[in-house]
Amino acid sequence: MFEVKPVAAERLPELLRLMPKAELHIHIEGSLEPELMFALAQRNGLTMKYPDVESLRRAYVFDDLQSFLDIYHAGTLVLRTEQDFYDMTHAYLARAAADKVVHAEIFFDTQTHTGHGLSADVVISGLHRACVDARTEFGISASLILCFLRHLSEQEAFECLEQALPHRDKLVGIGLASSELGHPPEKFARVFAKARALGLHLVAHAGEEGPPAYIWSALDVLKVERIDHGVQAVKDAALMARLAQDRIALTVCPLSNLKLRVFATLAQHSLGQLLQAGITATVNSDDPAYFGGYINQNFTETFAALGLTAQHAWQLARNSFEASFIDDSMKKRYLDRLRETFENFV
Ligand code: ADE
Ligand code: ZN
Repeated sequence: MFEVKPVAAERLPELLRLMPKAELHIHIEGSLEPELMFALAQRNGLTMKYPDVESLRRAYVFDDLQSFLDIYHAGTLVLRTEQDFYDMTHAYLARAAADKVVHAEIFFDTQTHTGHGLSADVVISGLHRACVDARTEFGISASLILCFLRHLSEQEAFECLEQALPHRDKLVGIGLASSELGHPPEKFARVFAKARALGLHLVAHAGEEGPPAYIWSALDVLKVERIDHGVQAVKDAALMARLAQDRIALTVCPLSNLKLRVFATLAQHSLGQLLQAGITATVNSDDPAYFGGYINQNFTETFAALGLTAQHAWQLARNSFEASFIDDSMKKRYLDRLRETFENFV
């Protein structure tokens, strides 16, 4: 058992920035910064609804998940070509590497883009090519998780899976995103069963705005291996015990929860309670271009608000590798690098 040395509060942000980490909850379309959005619009001959980057950024004020999803969807309209998907993913991976993300599991969806007349092939090819290049360019490993949009039908999710199957080798898993309330996980039981039979890893957003019941059904009906968000679990003691007992990881996104008003302040965030209960929580950015920060900003602001320590930093970074879908030898290599960082931090 590695013993974490105490670190003074003022040195903690430096440790948080330096420590290697995995990011397991990032929607690639949510990493599209306004500057790149405008550049892509121009390249594709499209007119933006806002006159400039600053006025677009000023529009990023949200009341809840749905008010965010509406503006997020509008932003995806600039993505038209394989190179657009490549450039967006390349930009995220460069930014993530600067935050010492050494491994990323990236969410994307094809349904948004097929709805705009693109093929799933264009989306997946661009994303995958950027992930491959990032390994040599930035020394970061990255894999792709295809999310079904839960406000659409089960039939549409089946069609989405079908269209992605020629690219099965480029996918590590399947997820479930978009409007949570009114769209419980069980709506997608059969298509998740099919994905499972194909050997894909399974995750789902649950308990972001939705009730603990959605986390239970993501686990028991969809049979997911991780829960995205899951912060509402603190309302259900039996669920907390189940998550800890079965080592189900939660990919928590504090700044997202703040901006979408899941918690009124970061000081009220449930991350500390989740860790206290022995749950494998991780810290992630969700949609960093919209929520005011990439992964390190999530770490530093949340640690300051909740008074977390170097011990928590160690636990969260460790959890990120333990909960990832990388093989055991790669996990060991990343965990060794993490231990070295802590040992050498003076
Ligand atoms: N898609 C992008 N960000 C999301 C979030 N926070 N919840 C659900 N779906 C999303
Ligand atoms: Zn998300």
